[in-house]
Amino acid sequence: RTLSIIKPDAVAKNVIGGVTAKLEGAGLRILASKMVRLTEAQAKAFYAVHAERGFYNDLVKFMTEGPVVVQVLEGENAVAANRAIMGATNPEKADAGTIRKEFATNIERNAVHGSDAAETAKEEIAFFFSTAELAALAR
Ligand code: CMP
Repeated sequence: RTLSIIKPDAVAKNVIGGVTAKLEGAGLRILASKMVRLTEAQAKAFYAVHAERGFYNDLVKFMTEGPVVVQVLEGENAVAANRAIMGATNPEKADAGTIRKEFATNIERNAVHGSDAAETAKEEIAFFFSTAELAALAR
């Protein structure tokens, strides 16, 4: 399992469906999905690992500017599979056919977030979804 966030830029561009089709096309299944508007506190906490980076405040502002779609993805090697279909953080460096190549604007407004490792995925999933919520959705 891994956590995906369709960021405010992609939601505003009306490409929730386009992004989700790429995820599903990569063999990932949507186990859980919800649209939420992050509070400043939530965005700060979610990206706490980047708190010392120069882009942190801008990132928090961006992630709270509009709704996002948070999704739990399930599949073989879900973390790696998601990262492959997302493409590089910087869309200029992303491979053709990836989500960021097609839908991102720049390195900050880059359409999607995906967990970077299995352990991070666990934490990030728990940030948005309770164990009971996920158990009810398991197939
Ligand atoms: P994400 O994969 O969600 O992880 C951290 C986010 O910070 C990244 O995507 C971008 O949205 C944002 N960001 C902004 N500037 C940079 C940068 N120079 N390097 C990496 N990430 C950046």
